[in-house]
Amino acid sequence: MDKLNLPVLLGTNRKERRSIHAAKWLVGEMQKRADIETRLFDVSEFSLPHDDYGQAIKDHFPEWRDAIIQADGLVIVSPEYNHGYPGALKAVLDLLLKEYIHKAVAFVGVSAGPWGGSRVIEAMVPMVRELGLTVTFTDLNFPSIQKKFDEQGKLQDPAYEQRAKDFLDELVWMSRTLKWGRENIPSKFHQSQG
Ligand SMILES: Cc1cc2nc3c(=O)[nH]c(=O)nc-3n(C[C@H](O)[C@H](O)[C@H](O)COP(=O)(O)O)c2cc1C
Repeated sequence: MDKLNLPVLLGTNRKERRSIHAAKWLVGEMQKRADIETRLFDVSEFSLPHDDYGQAIKDHFPEWRDAIIQADGLVIVSPEYNHGYPGALKAVLDLLLKEYIHKAVAFVGVSAGPWGGSRVIEAMVPMVRELGLTVTFTDLNFPSIQKKFDEQGKLQDPAYEQRAKDFLDELVWMSRTLKWGRENIPSKFHQSQG
């Protein structure tokens, strides 16, 4: 079967962010699989203007625009900031709209506290629904992130390998199903992506 194109978006630009370890480790797991191609996008690499916002400026970010046009789904890695998601993540997601429609999204939640970003994931669900994305039900949670990776980003808990496999298997199923739907069942939302 064809490889699915599933980019990963890291949602924080905080200097000392620990969620980068989770994002890089997951990209490594994805790259081991024959059914996925991926690349990491990092909100800290988007030079967002201070006086403009949204789809009006999407063509300033052609790599992101074209990656989402070509994507079959998306992984969002987000830390939990006061039970919500970072503003930078929202600003990057808001650059596009129709490009997301009828594609899958899977969430990785990262927190210093014990809940593994479950509250930020719940906060993201209604937001991505408005983008036309379809949410998987198998999240990947990293509670106490400071204990999960060492300073070099080496994972300390081998249980995550099976968790990541289950998480990715579900994302692949959902992405493949939606890809078939986009290619075979007409919808007024599947207009040209130019
Ligand atoms: C503005 C801010 C708000 C935060 N709010 C929470 C929170 O609500 N719950 C929590 O468990 N950790 C919270 N944290 C701690 C982060 O979960 C912690 O920094 C963790 O390492 C993941 O974020 P990071 O990728 O920025 O490091 C907060 C951190 C910041 C900077």
